[in-house]
Amino acid sequence: MSSQEPTHSIVSEEDIRALVDNFYDKIRADAVLGPIFERAIPGDWGPHLNIMYAFWSSVVRTTGRYKGNPVAVHQRIEGLEIGLFDRWLGLFRQSCDELFEEDVAQIFREKAARIAESLKLALFYRPDRPWPPADTDVAHPG
Ligand code: HEM
Repeated sequence: MSSQEPTHSIVSEEDIRALVDNFYDKIRADAVLGPIFERAIPGDWGPHLNIMYAFWSSVVRTTGRYKGNPVAVHQRIEGLEIGLFDRWLGLFRQSCDELFEEDVAQIFREKAARIAESLKLALFYRPDRPWPPADTDVAHPG
């Protein structure tokens, strides 16, 4: 069996496309996250969406299609704050719940939450400060 073709997965590539497309529609419409993405991806979003299809295919179908380094990419994103992760996850969960039955939705939600936690640690953890950091909730301004 090729590593590109998992035999056991209740998640299809079509599911992944639908999820990524639905989620990025929400991201673009979001008053806080939208501008951060627009700044980082000023032109055609096609290449970014293709990366995200490959990323989620690797994560939930173990296809090995994604070869990037999310920590390095996120380190360069202007305006990325730790308190925004809950907002990101909230939109992601909405997309999962809109599109999928509970079993599939849960697979995506759990993976996203874990990866978000490890990204936060990689980007923001400081040994000399408390974790999780207090007063960082910029996800719900006003
Ligand atoms: C507040 C939270 C987040 C923000 C604002 C954010 C923003 C972004 C932006 C703007 C990019 C495009 C960067 C570029 O192409 O220059 C990006 C890429 C990416 N993000 Fe996030 N992100 C967040 C959280 C997450 C989480 C939780 C995950 C995974 C569950 C994730 C996975 C990815 C991946 C895989 C890429 C592509 C990296 C690559 O090009 O190889 N992000 N993110």
